[in-house]
Amino acid sequence: MKQIPVESTEFRGALVAWFKRVGRKLPWRETADPYSILVSELMLQQTLVTTVVSYYLRWLKRFPTIRDLANADETEVLLAWQGLGYYNRARNLHRCAKVIAGGWNETFPSSVDALIQLPGIGRYTAGAIVSFAFDRPAPIVDGNIARAVSRLLDLQEPVDQPRGSEIIWDFATRYVQGANPRLLNSSLMELGAVVCIRRKPMCALCPVRSFCQTKDPESLPRKKERPKIERKTELHFFAVKDGRVLLQQNPGKRWQGLWSLPALPASSESARSNHAPSPSLSLSYPITRFVVRLNVFLREPPDSVRAGQAWHRLESLDGLPMPSPHRRAVQMALQRSWGI
Ligand code: ADE
Repeated sequence: MKQIPVESTEFRGALVAWFKRVGRKLPWRETADPYSILVSELMLQQTLVTTVVSYYLRWLKRFPTIRDLANADETEVLLAWQGLGYYNRARNLHRCAKVIAGGWNETFPSSVDALIQLPGIGRYTAGAIVSFAFDRPAPIVDGNIARAVSRLLDLQEPVDQPRGSEIIWDFATRYVQGANPRLLNSSLMELGAVVCIRRKPMCALCPVRSFCQTKDPESLPRKKERPKIERKTELHFFAVKDGRVLLQQNPGKRWQGLWSLPALPASSESARSNHAPSPSLSLSYPITRFVVRLNVFLREPPDSVRAGQAWHRLESLDGLPMPSPHRRAVQMALQRSWGI
């Protein structure tokens, strides 16, 4: 692996000049408000830019300041997050707001060391806030930057292992020690996001191609072998009574506090066996390394309601935080006019 002159005016200047010319206009690039940057970064952690834009704008209309968010109740927060998935991000954002608005004299922490103490904020997000909001030289490495840098350096070490990761963070740290760290980080991130893409990178358009060491960009970045995508099936039921649907509030980690269709009791062996009757409806959704098939069975309303379950009026469902696949299943069920 050869060094490249990451601190040089040629390298930084080429990247920044290119970014100023063709960088995407994104709403969080038009602000230096740390709360807005925090919102955007948590949303962008597992969601595409094109999806995030409308959520971000809506969120800031609804919770314009960190105090507004701190004062909101959790249901309202989860509802505003609905559709983005991975709800722990919303809960962490809410917790951050409470900590900052409550205990820090309402001054937003502005150092990486202070920020990484907050829930859900790691090295990347802390660096993003420090550089994008405060324009201070904090490095950031996300997937896009790791890919671009691994190619620039022709790095053969896996980037998700300590040695490879250290090399990338070291590059990002040296790179950002220049004038205008905000612009520097945005430029490198943009390179990875739009030019140095995973498949068929657009090397002919790359502003720093003369520095790039790799001859085989598509083989990089190297990563440790990942477990394969697994399939699993979840069995739930749909029951309505007097214009109400039975829902279950999730106690577990994944969708904590959200309302979903109740799980089919474990005793419903017939639905789990190889000779199971076909579900009344079925849809699938991805989550982490799983593709989940959600099978829903139409059931008579049960005589008694279990802990965590409640009947909800159909008209009130829009105001209830629900995981998107379960909301979709309920909509499909209602379209089929089941029991209504
Ligand atoms: N992905 C994560 N953070 C981002 C940002 N600030 N701009 C564009 N894409 C991003």
